Amino acid sequence: MATDTYELKVVRQFAIMTVVWGIVGMLVGVLIAAQLAWPVLNFDIPWLTFGRLRPLHTNAVIFAFGGSALFATSYYVVQRTCHTRLFAPGLAAFTFWGWQLIIVLAAVTLPLGVTSGKEYAELEWPIDILITVVWVSYAIVFFGTLATRKVKHIYVANWFFGGFILTVAVLHLVNSAAMPINLIKSYSAYAGVQDAMIQWWYGHNAVGFFLTAGFLGIMYYFVPKQAGRPVYSYRLSVVHFWALVFTYIWAGPHHLHYTALPDWTQSLGMVFSLVLLAPSWGGMINGIMTLSGAWEKLRTDPVLRFLIVSVSFYGMSTFEGPMMAIKTVNALSHYTDWTVGHVHSGALGWVAMISIGAMYFLIPKLFNRELHSLKLVEVHFWLSTIGVVLYITSMWIAGIMQGLMWRAVNDDGTLTYSFVESVAAMHPYYVIRALGGAIFLTGMLIMAWNIWKTVAGSKPAEMAIPAPAAAH
Ligand code: HEM
Ligand code: HEM
Repeated sequence: MATDTYELKVVRQFAIMTVVWGIVGMLVGVLIAAQLAWPVLNFDIPWLTFGRLRPLHTNAVIFAFGGSALFATSYYVVQRTCHTRLFAPGLAAFTFWGWQLIIVLAAVTLPLGVTSGKEYAELEWPIDILITVVWVSYAIVFFGTLATRKVKHIYVANWFFGGFILTVAVLHLVNSAAMPINLIKSYSAYAGVQDAMIQWWYGHNAVGFFLTAGFLGIMYYFVPKQAGRPVYSYRLSVVHFWALVFTYIWAGPHHLHYTALPDWTQSLGMVFSLVLLAPSWGGMINGIMTLSGAWEKLRTDPVLRFLIVSVSFYGMSTFEGPMMAIKTVNALSHYTDWTVGHVHSGALGWVAMISIGAMYFLIPKLFNRELHSLKLVEVHFWLSTIGVVLYITSMWIAGIMQGLMWRAVNDDGTLTYSFVESVAAMHPYYVIRALGGAIFLTGMLIMAWNIWKTVAGSKPAEMAIPAPAAAH
């Protein structure tokens, strides 16, 4: 490994932590899913209650698991496609240790109940400052590498990674503006409906840029690589990029339908969400059609299957999202488990599955080893698919049922069902969701074993990573 042509240590570190944080975050997910089915699992211990563990789950899966996957893949892809080593490797190492420290601080403060109360931005102000420092360092490393590239062209995956890094920086700075009153408590710089709008401008674009644009960067590099085919349409990929980033940024108000937010703002959010279907599906089609002429590989290559099925889930959740953004549909879906089902078809089906596929591609290369067992990848693939399907179908049924029960009225205008009756009706679906989660998690544990055997194994890969001049 001393002979690396690229700066790979930091990529290896982030890649391994992707698997570790994936397991931790999903374990907490399974626990909170079980708590919703069997409340006794809150154990009457404050720091183990659902309310405190839920933000721990979202932070762990989005920022620790998803974030590590994005750091690993962007650092790898930018070097390979720019034919150069990482700019400022010391700073890159700092981003690794800084990001891990942030995750550990989140894991300590959130169960203790230290929170700013803003969804997906719960961490208190000292940690927010640390996030800013690490993120700026990330931007310097990434854009520095782009600036020192040895080829003229900037491959499209880097556009998506670059857009994600820049936008997340702006979102974090604006949304986290707050007045501290002591080390662990601050108040938002915004109030009332402005606070809500800033929060959902942030929240929606955290989805659009953190959970989507960055992972599209992964798609544009790893799908062609694993399929051994060029991107279906390079022109479409460029249109995809600009249309996606322009449209996403306006769609946030769909999270605030029927609230105190001015009605025209809600309608604007709805319209842009509907428009968003076009670039999203353009990208999905571009990803899947990259397989043209190589469809038969899906039969034999479970890694490719992870990648392609994830892109299909991306297509599914970006069809469902615009539909849920329509005000009349949202009147039924909002506050229900339908939203949670939508979230996880994106989060498990798209984000987790594409990250898993990318790690199966990357880790053997990074450690110069052959993958220990393709058979186990196959088993993992089926466990993941079954797990996601159980999760999202149970939440669809639960969500639509909740929505219908809440709005059902008797002839005399009284409510047909009390709230608690709708809660009781959820029990079987919560059990199925917990089971789906546990199956998905089992797949992750198999992955950890397979990766462990790969890294510790003695089977060297046939082909090491080529030198920059020959690489792409
Ligand atoms: C084993 C896998 C997983 C299980 C069992 C699981 C379970 C859960 C549960 C029970 C909730 C709370 C729902 C509620 O409040 O009613 C939740 C929320 C959430 N999870 Fe997961 N999760 C898993 C994986 C993931 C992954 C991989 C991601 C992201 C990459 C993710 C992102 C989220 C988000 C964003 C929310 C908040 C949803 C909302 O506010 O509507 N989850 N999860
Ligand atoms: C065209 C793309 C998409 C649109 C228009 C869209 C639209 C929506 C809508 C309307 C909601 C429900 C808001 C509410 O009633 O509270 C929602 C929630 C959500 N969506 Fe999407 N969605 C899209 C794609 C995705 C993808 C790909 C992911 C994940 C990777 C995702 C993650 C989420 C999350 C995390 C929430 C829950 C936010 C919360 O309440 O905490 N969405 N989305």
